[in-house]
Amino acid sequence: MIVAKDIWKSFGKKKVLQGLNLEVEAGETVVILGRSGVGKSVLLRQIIGMDKPDSGWIEVEGVRITDLKGAKLYRAIRKMGMLFQGSALFDSLSVGENTAFYLRQHGDPKTHKPLPANEIKARVAEALEMVDLKGTEELAPSSLSGGMRKRAALARLIVYRPEVLLYDEPTTGLDPITAQHINRLIAHTQKALKATSIVVTHDLVSALAVGDRLALHDEGQISVIADPKSFMKNDHPVIREFIKNASFNHDLDALMHVPYPAEAGATS
Ligand SMILES: Nc1ncnc2c1ncn2[C@@H]1O[C@H](COP(=O)(O)OP(=O)(O)OP(=O)(O)O)[C@@H](O)[C@H]1O
Ligand SMILES: [Mg+2]
Repeated sequence: MIVAKDIWKSFGKKKVLQGLNLEVEAGETVVILGRSGVGKSVLLRQIIGMDKPDSGWIEVEGVRITDLKGAKLYRAIRKMGMLFQGSALFDSLSVGENTAFYLRQHGDPKTHKPLPANEIKARVAEALEMVDLKGTEELAPSSLSGGMRKRAALARLIVYRPEVLLYDEPTTGLDPITAQHINRLIAHTQKALKATSIVVTHDLVSALAVGDRLALHDEGQISVIADPKSFMKNDHPVIREFIKNASFNHDLDALMHVPYPAEAGATS
């Protein structure tokens, strides 16, 4: 479970977070929508302990992240993974080395003991297969398309099987078909890992595809949080604007919880 309580954060005179509250249940996926610059990335950075609020506290799985630093913080955030805005692969490492990064750094996710090379290799291959990048270990990130880079970044994240997953704009800059592919992978990953997740996005189609609940981040707070259908009916002007600007058909049931190809195949 993730709890953010009365979070305040300013940069100079600019008030960014102004008494923000958020609770994400264990195993739940909450999608945060909001205009550019409202502080969505700032909030994610605080949850993962990279940045501290001016006041308020954040707990992840019962551990008060905002009180920790140094080795204690490192131990607490080992079970979390974040997909950064812009995917941020290490360009000097191959796709395989990128994917192996957290396993090499943290060792076995359960025991934290170093993993043998053949075990790392097997887990990397499995993670790349999960994101449909089987056999790309030797490629350089610079030779990948935008969608492939996002998928490689996702593989690097899921290989470590984090219990808490934070995604910052996982589909921004991708064409709608590639974006929907990423959404399926995210939804599938949540199921496979039973992870507690927060997905930040501008994209309403993505939000509906992966979210158990949708939240609006506006004026420094989470001003609306609701199940997808209630959220879509909410008359908050920013929500209405998001819906007006989204180019999709309005069949909510079809957009919610897109099946992963394997699941779709299994039921037909
Ligand atoms: N380290 C920093 N120093 C100064 N200002 C910052 C810092 N980090 C964020 N900000 C400011 O805080 C505000 C919120 O930034 P943030 O990146 O969280 O926005 P966002 O909601 O993620 O926007 P986008 O949707 O464009 O990614 C912005 O005005 C930004 O300039
Ligand atoms: Mg951002």
